[in-house]
Amino acid sequence: MPHRAPGAPGQRAGNYLAGKPIKYYRPGGSAQVRHLIENGFQAFNAGRLSEACHIFADKMLAPENDTTIGLTIAGALTPAGLGGCVIEMIDRGLIDFIISTGANLYHDLHYALNFTLHRGSPFLDDVELYEQGIIRIYDVLFPATVLLETDAYIRDFLVRSGLSGPISTSELHFRLGEDLLDRYPGCEEYSVVARAALAGVPIYTSSPGDSSIGMNIAYHELMNGATLMIDPNRDVNEVCAIILAGKQNGCVILGGGSPKNFYLQGQPTLWEVYGIPKGGNDYFIQITTDQVVWGGLSGATPAEAVSWGKVNPGVLPDTVVAYCDSTIAFPLFCEYAIGSEHGCRPRKELLHKREQLVADLVRQAKETRDAKQKPPVANEPAEIDRHR
Ligand SMILES: NC(=O)c1ccc[n+]([C@@H]2O[C@H](COP(=O)([O-])OP(=O)(O)OC[C@H]3O[C@@H](n4cnc5c(N)ncnc54)[C@H](O)[C@@H]3O)[C@@H](O)[C@H]2O)c1
Repeated sequence: MPHRAPGAPGQRAGNYLAGKPIKYYRPGGSAQVRHLIENGFQAFNAGRLSEACHIFADKMLAPENDTTIGLTIAGALTPAGLGGCVIEMIDRGLIDFIISTGANLYHDLHYALNFTLHRGSPFLDDVELYEQGIIRIYDVLFPATVLLETDAYIRDFLVRSGLSGPISTSELHFRLGEDLLDRYPGCEEYSVVARAALAGVPIYTSSPGDSSIGMNIAYHELMNGATLMIDPNRDVNEVCAIILAGKQNGCVILGGGSPKNFYLQGQPTLWEVYGIPKGGNDYFIQITTDQVVWGGLSGATPAEAVSWGKVNPGVLPDTVVAYCDSTIAFPLFCEYAIGSEHGCRPRKELLHKREQLVADLVRQAKETRDAKQKPPVANEPAEIDRHR
C-alpha cells in the first residue's frame, strides 16, 4: 500500500463515526451510588473501592486534616469522557493539583475546541479505519482532522502567547487554559485544562515530550526558532514545594505510569535531596489495572513505597489499591465523594502560590544545609556526647 497521510482527500468516511458523541460526564453526588458503595461493595475490589471512598471522603477531605491532594492521571481517561469528573473535583476544591500524562491533556483540548469523539467498537478493521482517516483509541473513534486541527491550534497558541525561555509545565498549561477561556468562552465546562486555569489548580506533566503538545513545542523550536523550553527542574521543585507546604498530603492515583512516580517522588526529593524529612505521604489511593508481580512502579503497592520514604510507615491503614478499570471506578468514586459531608472544600489555588511555595522550599533547604555545615561552637560538647 503506498504511503499517505490518514484521511487524505478522496477517502470517504463510512459510518464509523455514527456512534454517540462522547461527552464529559459530571458526577452530582448520587445518593443511589453512595448506597451501592456503602452496602453493595463489600469484598474483593468492590471492597477496596469502598475503602478508597471512605479514606477520601472521611479523612482526606476532613477540614481538620487540611490535606493537600494531588490527582495523577494515566490511561486514556479524557478520550473516554472522564474529564467531567476531574472538572467537578477541581470546581469543588477536592483536588489541589494534577499530574497527568500529556496525552490526557492533549485529548482534553478536543472538547474545548468543540470537536467530537464518538463511541464505537474495539472490534473494527484498523486498516479500513486508516484508509478512511479515522483514529481509534480502543472503542473511541474520531477523524484524523481532529488531531490536525488541535495541533494547529496549539502551534497558533504558542506563537500568539510569546512564551519564551524555560518554563514549568504548570505555567504552560495555565497559559494554554487562559487562551482557551479567552477564545472559546464557556469551554471551562468541557475542558480540564481550561477549568484548572480558572480555578487556580496547577497541572503538571511528568514527560512533556510524550504527547502531541510536546510534539508541537518541538516543532515551534525547530521551525520558528523559538526559545520556549519545558524545564522539568521547575516542575520537580514546584511539586516538591507544594508537598512540603501541605499540612497533610494525599494522592489519588489513576492508572500508574510516570505521573504516579512524579507525585510520589516529592517526599524522597525532600528527605533524600534537600535534607528536609517530611515523613512521607499520609494518604494513598490508587485505582489501577497494573499488577504488583511484574515489579514495575505502576503496580507497586503503598507498602513498597514505605521503604522509599514515599509513604509514612505509620499510615498504611490509610492506603488502598483498588484493582479496577478507572473508567468504571473513578466516576463511582467521584459520586461518593461529592455526595459526602465534605463534598466541597475551599480551593487552595496553588497555581497562584507557586513562587512563594518554592521560595519557602529554598529557605528551608538552605537552613538545613547551613545547620549541617555549621562548625561546633567552642566549649560545646560534640553532638555525639550530648546523646550519651
Ligand atoms: N496524541 C497524543 O498526545 C498521545 C500520546 C500518547 C498516548 N496517546 C493516546 O492516549 C492514550 C492514553 O495514554 P497515556 O499516556 O495517558 O497512558 P497509557 O494508556 O500508556 O496508560 C498508562 C498507565 O495507566 C494504566 N491504565 C491504562 N488504562 C487504564 C484503565 N482503564 N484503568 C486503570 N488503569 C489503566 C496502565 O496500566 C498504565 O499504568 C493512549 O491509549 C494513546 O492512544 C496520545
